[in-house]
Amino acid sequence: MKVLFLNGPNLNLLGTRQPEIYGTTTLAEIEAGIRKQAENRTEVEFRQSNDEGDLVTWVQESPGEADVIVINAAGYTHTSVALRDAISATNVPVVEVHLSNIHAREEFRHNSLIAPVCQGQICGFGVNSYHLALESALSLKLTD
Ligand code: DQA
Repeated sequence: MKVLFLNGPNLNLLGTRQPEIYGTTTLAEIEAGIRKQAENRTEVEFRQSNDEGDLVTWVQESPGEADVIVINAAGYTHTSVALRDAISATNVPVVEVHLSNIHAREEFRHNSLIAPVCQGQICGFGVNSYHLALESALSLKLTD
């Protein structure tokens, strides 16, 4: 089993980016924690891109490569019809994840274009959102 973690724009800046909102943990540290949690349970792969097209292509290529996708689409969550269409077109289940509670922030963040085509959304728990997302990904496969 393999869980593919896709991370969108500006998440490469975690650690120094608006720490009052996103905390001080870097993406590499999040990945290390997820690898520990996944040990002897599932293979995991982490990718990050600032490019919308990369995220679309990775979702397109996921069948046969990953069993579940966990995606933090970052800013593209609120804007990307192309990413939503790619998620709609894949048969790989997708869990949406955010560090912050997007519903408690600016109004433009309340709407996620990808939420209706994902299995579910986890947000607002900081780094723990990623850990909860991995548990959700694993539970999807248990109940298959
Ligand atoms: C985010 C929330 C988005 O609104 C924002 O654009 C991000 C990060 C989060 O993880 O809380 O870049 O996805």
